[in-house]
Amino acid sequence: MRITASDDSRTPGESFAAPQRGAHDSDPVIGVGTASGKAILFGEHAVVYGHPAIALPLRDLRVRAEAEPLPERRLLHSALYTGDLGRVPDRLASTARAVEATMSAVGADGSGVRVHVESDLPAERGVGSSAAVSAAIVQAVAAAFGHELDPTERHHLIQIAERAAHTSPSGLDARTVVSDRPVWFQDGSAHDLEVAGPLSFVIADSGVRGRTREAVAAVRALRDADPIAVERRLDRLGALAREGRAALASPKPEEIGVRMDEAHALLGELGVGDPALDRLAGIARTGGALGAKLTGGGRGGCVLVLARDPDHATELAHDLRERGAAATWTTELRGTR
Ligand code: MEV
Repeated sequence: MRITASDDSRTPGESFAAPQRGAHDSDPVIGVGTASGKAILFGEHAVVYGHPAIALPLRDLRVRAEAEPLPERRLLHSALYTGDLGRVPDRLASTARAVEATMSAVGADGSGVRVHVESDLPAERGVGSSAAVSAAIVQAVAAAFGHELDPTERHHLIQIAERAAHTSPSGLDARTVVSDRPVWFQDGSAHDLEVAGPLSFVIADSGVRGRTREAVAAVRALRDADPIAVERRLDRLGALAREGRAALASPKPEEIGVRMDEAHALLGELGVGDPALDRLAGIARTGGALGAKLTGGGRGGCVLVLARDPDHATELAHDLRERGAAATWTTELRGTR
């Protein structure tokens, strides 16, 4: 998969799991961790209730974290906040949790640490920023204290952090941000997905903050109030993921697109849509997109658009920006065979 960002031409960061030391033995040990963004193609929200989902790692939208042991203080340096970890704003609670949980897990409870985070990802836009930041931090902090985590340990720590961001994360984001292939996810387990590809996508940011925690809570409240209607929609979202899986393996782009449109409508009926997302999806469809849907928690954030080919994706991205998208990215999903 290759992503081009309309507003950011930075080269993706390198990935190092092992701690690095400078040229001299007295130079500090720096642990490094990386992760990427994600876009959910099918199954957001339904996945929380055990239905399957499909997500795509956005490999060129990267997060890189560096961690360095300190005697006492725990400090965070990032574009969103710089200062004591104990005083992070609420919206960075998962970032602080990722550091604290990893320090405990590697037996460094009594130590300090300095964590530096750089991210290509917009925060609170449904493209996996919180999970990717946590994933990069978990890897970096463990490495700084001489530990290389296995995938299960790393996933467990990312999920602890994710619970601070929203209470009942399915694990889909945590799995996808550390994957380099499309993910089929259900009931906590992730599997690689067969894609005949290529498929060209656009991601368009509405500029409206997505609110995953509230969106997940709203679906739960609606399900409590009207279980039959909500279950019917969640079942259909799960079925769309299954049908989407078959269409990806063919690939049948039109069949994927038509299901993306249906998923967008169902998510709106579940109360997680937003007029800005409907507007962007409408612009994309008028421009000949094969399908368009909100991606991630919703109530803001991004739409994922399926274009006919890479040139069409570039054209749509341009159109969407001209007509109000805060940013766009294009991505090519290559075949896995
Ligand atoms: C958020 O990216 C995806 C949701 O399905 C929540 C989750 O899977 O935990 C809305």
